[in-house]
Amino acid sequence: MKLNITCIPGDGIGPEIITEAKKVLNKTAAVYGHEITYKDILMGGASIDVHGVPLTDEAIADAKAADAVLMGSIGGNTTTSPWYQLPPEKRPEAGLLKIRKELNLFANLRPAVLYSELADACPLKKEISDQGFDMLIMRELTGGLYFGDRYTREENGVRKAVDTLTYDENEIRRIAIKGFDIAMKRRKKVTSVDKANVLDSSRLWRKVVEEVAQDYPEVTLEHMLVDNCAMQLVKDPAQFDVILTENMFGDILSDEASMVTGSIGMLASASLNDTKFGLYEPSHGSAPDIAGQDIANPIATVLSAAMMLRYSFDLDKEADAIENAVKNILSKGYRTADIISDGCTRVGCREMGDLLADEIK
Ligand code: IPM
Ligand code: MG
Repeated sequence: MKLNITCIPGDGIGPEIITEAKKVLNKTAAVYGHEITYKDILMGGASIDVHGVPLTDEAIADAKAADAVLMGSIGGNTTTSPWYQLPPEKRPEAGLLKIRKELNLFANLRPAVLYSELADACPLKKEISDQGFDMLIMRELTGGLYFGDRYTREENGVRKAVDTLTYDENEIRRIAIKGFDIAMKRRKKVTSVDKANVLDSSRLWRKVVEEVAQDYPEVTLEHMLVDNCAMQLVKDPAQFDVILTENMFGDILSDEASMVTGSIGMLASASLNDTKFGLYEPSHGSAPDIAGQDIANPIATVLSAAMMLRYSFDLDKEADAIENAVKNILSKGYRTADIISDGCTRVGCREMGDLLADEIK
């Protein structure tokens, strides 16, 4: 198969982790007889430095022309980087929000799995981590508070800032359908997370999710308020299968879910539209404090590449091979700094990439 992939190395640790993901992809392609062509584009701070904007129209066109997009991470230190002196719409994050909108990537899948090998890195009590967990957060990605009208102005000498949170029923329905579809392939449980005791957008969310649920009689649906969900994630993560939620709640809960897996450096993600096209990126950020030191964990990006093979190319065997390579390397005791524990062998970003690539045979 010919795979035409656009890569966004981005900022911070982004270029390092993308290099390792390509290494693993190239080995997989060699073993299974595929041909990959890559085109790199600039986004975030890397694009600001060259073009003055976080994402150019040419870069968007290159992303659209690909079969799938693989991304590292974007952004810098928000207090010290000059990128954050720019107006908000010119900062690195604006590039990411723009590409999601331009490519209509409304469905963000963030699986959070506790690997038994990493149980020691899980910050929860042993009674809880012993039960393990395997959840998938289905986050709405192109609506809500992050895309609503916003302004800051002075009224009667008082500074005031406004952000608006809007959802229409079509936006809710299409993400709910994605959530239920994926639940059918998993343990058939959807926990829809909202703040329906306060927000109108959440009350509409709940209604539409219930309507969609009618078409999935085999799936158990429960509703949970977001504050309770934040608590349940650390109290009893094993109860969750698919968490279906809106943009901001999903942003926050997915960071929390990734932390209970032991490391945010392990969490992959896929952002999909209505076709096979998707953008794949680790759930973590650009970690500018450790950039360029060969200590970042490339696993989340490698697992994002596996998701890409699975969802955009239907290459399940190849995706399995990458996921198994990760498990094998962990069970052989190799760890990057973020997931190190007693008795394990510490390796850098490059060496982890080499080990994973060698494990694919
Ligand atoms: C994420 C990030 C982004 C988001 C930021 C960088 C805009 O936190 O992908 O979770 O909030 O979506
Ligand atoms: Mg986030």
